[in-house]
Amino acid sequence: MNNITERRVDNGSAERLLSRSDANDFICDREDPIWVGIERAVSNGCGTVFVSDGTGVLLGRVEIDDLRGAIAAGAHLKNATLKQFVKPISTNDQNSVAIPVIDAECRIVGVTLDHKRRFVPVAEPDLAVGELRNLLDAFLSTWISSTGAYITEFEQRFASRMGMAHGIATSNGTVSLQLALASLGIGAGDEVIVPDFTFAGSANAVIHAGARPVLVDVDPDTWCITPEAIRAAITPRTRAVMPVHVFGRAAPMEEISDVAHEHGLFVIEDCAEAHGASYNGRPVGSFSHVSSFSFFANKIITTGEGGICLTNDADLAARLRMLRDHGMRPERRYWHEEPGFNFRMTNIQAAIGCAQLDRLDELLAMRRTVQSIYEAAFDGIDGIELMRKRERPYEDVIWFACARVPASARPHLIEACRKEKIDIRPFFNSLSSMPAYKKYARACPNSRALAREGINLPTSRRVTPALAEEIATIFRVVLKDHTI
Ligand SMILES: Cc1ncc(COP(=O)(O)O)c(C=O)c1O
Repeated sequence: MNNITERRVDNGSAERLLSRSDANDFICDREDPIWVGIERAVSNGCGTVFVSDGTGVLLGRVEIDDLRGAIAAGAHLKNATLKQFVKPISTNDQNSVAIPVIDAECRIVGVTLDHKRRFVPVAEPDLAVGELRNLLDAFLSTWISSTGAYITEFEQRFASRMGMAHGIATSNGTVSLQLALASLGIGAGDEVIVPDFTFAGSANAVIHAGARPVLVDVDPDTWCITPEAIRAAITPRTRAVMPVHVFGRAAPMEEISDVAHEHGLFVIEDCAEAHGASYNGRPVGSFSHVSSFSFFANKIITTGEGGICLTNDADLAARLRMLRDHGMRPERRYWHEEPGFNFRMTNIQAAIGCAQLDRLDELLAMRRTVQSIYEAAFDGIDGIELMRKRERPYEDVIWFACARVPASARPHLIEACRKEKIDIRPFFNSLSSMPAYKKYARACPNSRALAREGINLPTSRRVTPALAEEIATIFRVVLKDHTI
């Protein structure tokens, strides 16, 4: 077994990261109940635990997939312990990222992490023990639909963290935008100014509200909509602006709010990608009549699917709640004031959300660390421009680590990384480049250029200096051959 560890360390792709004391989340005793294994495998983020014989001698590994199967079969009812699930450690554990480091007596003295053994996706949800416990609690409470203590807690705590008075949780971040528009009475005949460089959900929400998105170009440096572009797109039909804090980058909200105020427009910030970002000391999402967030699995915090509307206006909050719930008056059951929607979040989703919210600062810090790891690894490579760090008033967060690369090289970079089991993604397409949205768009050269040149790099706690170095090496080679 020593050989396995030695070989992996020697080939340079593995990292000997964790000492015995740092590796507690990886190590269990064979007599531990299976829930101990599940919680540790969730906490360590690798889905594996190593099982020892009680004196510290390594017996083998247990994978979370085996424990999932065991729970589904009811093994936890039979005082099952981990020893039933132990598999020997072998060089064929191709999918297992964690490798035990052992001494001459076969005792575990640390854990090596080799993230390259498994496909590295661009994003993966970061779920921990708190999420698991809340989820079970919500399930056992039987409050699995859209009423329940976790919903109330999540709405209140998320709103307060973002500096807003009211939170109205929804089923996703697209319908929360649609709900925001409907609550403000925006619909047929109205125009809403939306940046061309955004995920299609922003524009789809406007279209499904019955209004017309007016797609304008973004700033080439900030990647966000500008007050000038908004001003130039205002017509007598404009009712609202929808700034998007794309990839965690705060749009200049004070200036945008001034333009909106001057022209009597509503502001609906789309903060799907920017939980925790601020502009001039104020959280994004707090500059709006109604702001919207998404909690899809790739977002900074997740509820699986989910979204939320935030507002400071109590009447608007009541209207958002009513519209979210089929247009029903809360105090008069089955009395519908108007045809509303079912855009509700479930208590089960909110249970995960509450635990994620406890970890928001930790998750933001992890993403900042990932960005610095890439900055160090890519330093001095010609042709790659990492997303620029900005000073106050912009207090950005990292959603995905992003870079711009020569458009001609991009497909080759993506392909070369894929061959090495690393997922690199192109930015989303500019909306104006797609037939479904072309008719709504002004000229958007900056957005088109970003969409042609942008890439997202894997952004999760699996990103280590060695992985970033490996990507950097691939980039160096590919860029030498494919930069025109
Ligand atoms: C900017 C932006 N707006 C809206 C959405 C839609 O959110 P959801 O996927 O939760 O509907 C997303 C999600 O990817 C997004 O990135």
